Amino acid sequence: MNKALPKISVLFVCLGNICRSPTAHAVFQSMVDTEGLGDRISVDSSGTGDWHIGKAPDSRSQQHALDRGYDMSALRARLVSVDDFALYDYVLAMDSQNLCDLKAMRPSEFCGELGLFLDFCRHPDYASYRDVPDPYYGGDQGFSLVLDLIEDASSELLRRVKGRL
Ligand code: 4NP
Repeated sequence: MNKALPKISVLFVCLGNICRSPTAHAVFQSMVDTEGLGDRISVDSSGTGDWHIGKAPDSRSQQHALDRGYDMSALRARLVSVDDFALYDYVLAMDSQNLCDLKAMRPSEFCGELGLFLDFCRHPDYASYRDVPDPYYGGDQGFSLVLDLIEDASSELLRRVKGRL
């Protein structure tokens, strides 16, 4: 019988899990699938806040993502849990406050990578961004910028993860 190849798992975390992290989930999953790596890399997203648990992504996020070919409609918001640290190799925060909250709950035995997702950005236009700006209370431009940042960071993340497979 063939031995199963090792998997690498990635969890994206924002505040509400209805705008930024599900967008990252859908974009990164799409890149993984395009490379035929769906059975080697698992992807999920969650939030540090509990207001939207069980809800589909924000309709504005869904529409902007769909305009670029990413379907987020099947995703549902969930709360991040301490147990996630046992399940994921990469726990990537969308902003510094999310990272602070995650550091406070990280078990001492966690030996994966916990950090800011935008540390993976490579495009010089995005060098000044540490955080994915929260688009929830803003207009269309905010949702478009979220996608620009996430597409750039996802390409580099996938390159690094592939190097570890
Ligand atoms: P997200 O955006 O963290 O990118 O999902 C937000 C969604 C909802 C709220 C805040 C941010 N909220 O306050 O309900």
